[in-house]
Amino acid sequence: MLKIVALSGSLRQASYNTAILRAMSTLAPEGSQLDLHTLHGIPLYDGDMEEQGAPEAVRTLQQAIQAADALLICTPEYNNSMPGVLKNGLDWLSRPQAEGKKTFAGKPTALLGATPGGFGTVQSQDAMLSVLRAFAVDFWFGGRLMLSKVNTLLAADGSLQDEATREQLRGFLQGFVQHVTKPQRKES
Ligand SMILES: Cc1cc2nc3c(=O)[nH]c(=O)nc-3n(C[C@H](O)[C@H](O)[C@H](O)COP(=O)(O)O)c2cc1C
Repeated sequence: MLKIVALSGSLRQASYNTAILRAMSTLAPEGSQLDLHTLHGIPLYDGDMEEQGAPEAVRTLQQAIQAADALLICTPEYNNSMPGVLKNGLDWLSRPQAEGKKTFAGKPTALLGATPGGFGTVQSQDAMLSVLRAFAVDFWFGGRLMLSKVNTLLAADGSLQDEATREQLRGFLQGFVQHVTKPQRKES
């Protein structure tokens, strides 16, 4: 089973971005599975705290990403960039672990985002690219998914109610899984 960590950039209980990942988890191609994660419990990065050992929430998520075949991030946009809570979480996660394992290097990674606004998180996603480059992830450029007016796509309980969006999400996941499993990638 191909495992994908699906990480939301929002802590909000009724987050649109988390709702989109929840919908995607039902659309994973056969032989693949999305495991939903959030950044709850990760404190503000503090080098002094780190010297005492990384917090449990950081270590748990690091281990989940390391064990996974791929990473999918769905994030809101805040003030034309990524939310601070996501950058903070990624900063913690990027720190080396006691075993010296790297969390992100070479990890197949895809990005999408949702907003009730009209510009689909384009600037948040652009800002994320420079962070993901620093991590040397294997970024999948094959799909671009920026969901505008997401509030109109979801029902009151957060379930996806728009068939065209469901097909977009399904196609995005199919393309990403193809990228993760393609033989050339595995050999490198
Ligand atoms: C501090 C702040 C800044 C925001 N800036 C933007 C923005 O630049 N672009 C945008 O499309 N939405 C912006 N929004 C609106 C968010 O897209 C909206 O709150 C969205 O619901 C957040 O995602 P979530 O539902 O997954 O929590 C902002 C919201 C907050 C709280």
